[in-house]
Amino acid sequence: MSDAFIGTSIDIAATLLKKGEAVAIPTETVYGLAANALDTRAVAKIFSIKQRPTFDPLIIHVADFDKVVDYVKEIPEIFKKLAAKYTPGPVTFLMKKKDIIPDIVTAGSPYVAIRIPNHPVTLELLKKVEFPLAAPSANPFGYISPTTAEHVADQLGSKVYYILDGGSCDVGVESTILALDENGEVEVLRKGGLSIEAIEKETGTVTVRDTSVSNPEAPGMLTSHYAPRVPLVLGDIHTLSAASNSNRTGIIAFSNFLPGIPTKHQIVLSPSGNFTDAARNLFAGMRYLDNCDIDVIFAEPVPESDLGIAINDRLRRAAHRDHPVT
Ligand code: TXA
Ligand code: MG
Repeated sequence: MSDAFIGTSIDIAATLLKKGEAVAIPTETVYGLAANALDTRAVAKIFSIKQRPTFDPLIIHVADFDKVVDYVKEIPEIFKKLAAKYTPGPVTFLMKKKDIIPDIVTAGSPYVAIRIPNHPVTLELLKKVEFPLAAPSANPFGYISPTTAEHVADQLGSKVYYILDGGSCDVGVESTILALDENGEVEVLRKGGLSIEAIEKETGTVTVRDTSVSNPEAPGMLTSHYAPRVPLVLGDIHTLSAASNSNRTGIIAFSNFLPGIPTKHQIVLSPSGNFTDAARNLFAGMRYLDNCDIDVIFAEPVPESDLGIAINDRLRRAAHRDHPVT
């Protein structure tokens, strides 16, 4: 299934990256497929391996917020404040790029998305290479994001030489993406691993842009993202499962098993009702069910607060099938 070399050598990863290759790397959110962000040919390999359309821009990763000044024209004060509090961490900032960032990274946009991942292995790797790493999630375009090295190997193993193994991802959903609107107010372009409540503690009320359809500001956030191959339906799992063949049904529930459906076809995200655990288990659970012999997955929304907001967003996208999953 996989020809990839999974290992823990930061040296091997750094050497390959310096040669212009793409390498899968761990982050606290999901695994990324990384390449030298300043090298157009290396970045092009990411698009080709992922089968990702080139209109969908990439996030760049740096070791320290002090490095951001090398790549953007100016850093808004509010981003400095948020970065001081929440980086390294699951948050990405959109800022006006300097010319050193190739257009392929930003899909021609004057803005570049930057984050400092909170993973010790990748922070060390970033310090070893002298360039920032462009890295989208290491899944084929449209499929569920990987939260272990094995997930990457299962899907991209024949296309990447090296997967740097940093264990399973601690956060489990992608970073929250922040931009400034025309009035200089913070807006959320993607709900993610840093909660809106945490952001609002520093900024006051923020707006959340509706990214449920393809959005010119964040063109990659098509609704079919994060989709399993088995159809996923979001709603009341009791009602939905009442009319279904119980042996062919999968369940994603927040904290309780559903009577009448085989336990092996049920993912309970967090028996104690904890959002952190639920986010961590979400993508692995979706993958697990996608590989079970079932016809449909019924998922219930979790309470809409804290990381529950990002979890529900990913479930909604997984349920939305108006684009073919690639
Ligand atoms: O947690 C994460 O952010 C992970 C890890 C690997 O860092 N990365 C990730 O990358 O989720 P990706 O490519 O799967 O999603 C990045 C999203 C895309 O939807 C893209 O459209 C948006 O960020 N984005 C990137 N650069 C942008 C830009 N210049 N302007 C607007 N949106 C941008
Ligand atoms: Mg992605």
